[in-house]
Amino acid sequence: MSLLDLKDVVKRYGQHTVLNGVSLTVAKGQIIAVIGRSGSGKSTLLRCVNGLEPIQGGTISFDGTVVNDPGTDLSKLRLHVGIVFQSFNLFPHLSAEENITLAPNVVKGVPLAEARRLAQTVLRKVGLAEKIDAYPDQLSGGQQQCLAIARSLAMAPQLILFDDPELVGAVPKLLEEMARDGMTIMLVTHDIGFACKVADRVAFMHQGRIWEEGPAAATLARPRTPELGSFLSAVLLH
Ligand SMILES: Nc1ncnc2c1ncn2[C@@H]1O[C@H](COP(=O)(O)OP(=O)(O)OP(=O)(O)O)[C@@H](O)[C@H]1O
Ligand SMILES: [Mg+2]
Repeated sequence: MSLLDLKDVVKRYGQHTVLNGVSLTVAKGQIIAVIGRSGSGKSTLLRCVNGLEPIQGGTISFDGTVVNDPGTDLSKLRLHVGIVFQSFNLFPHLSAEENITLAPNVVKGVPLAEARRLAQTVLRKVGLAEKIDAYPDQLSGGQQQCLAIARSLAMAPQLILFDDPELVGAVPKLLEEMARDGMTIMLVTHDIGFACKVADRVAFMHQGRIWEEGPAAATLARPRTPELGSFLSAVLLH
């Protein structure tokens, strides 16, 4: 059963068409890796799925809800669709604990004491238990990313969108654990080896379209289009 269904999605910034008819389905429990050159529209795609960007054409359905329907309650949608941004988007004036407790407490109405226990649990999970009182600028880049992941996990989303995480430290294992726990993951990555290893499917974006999509290992081993072929040889040579 598909959890996420994109049909002919068009996204423009002014005259510039960034997504030019993107169609994609993601089944529940799948990990789909999204790869492609810089500027091909990967981050934009994730932002549209989460309803952070309006679209100019097509439909995005998540679990039966049309994300781009003006009547859709986007804050409700975001209870189920988490996003870990390329730039983390942590709250700099809040501690690690407060970064995590804010949304469960304010958006979901989880009592603060319970939200704090939840913060401890997710921080332990990402290996940051001892940083509970630290502020984002007191954390390394890798640790900030783990905090952003912990913050997302605390909301227990059905679908989690990862925008090109640095696959260092505990992160690869965490992603595999999340998938094992039944979470559906859409992962933008430049790490082809990791995509091949953990993803069920891979989507190659090129010029605002899904150029190729299929089972991860087979698609990456035998590209059907010269565009994917040359993309892979360029990244694998680096
Ligand atoms: N807010 C914006 N306003 C105007 N143009 C934008 C905006 N955001 C993105 N774009 C343009 O959309 C295109 C796709 O950008 P996007 O960030 O989705 O690429 P990407 O595939 O994530 O690249 P990267 O691998 O470098 O992160 C780029 O040409 C970019 O300049
Ligand atoms: Mg990007």
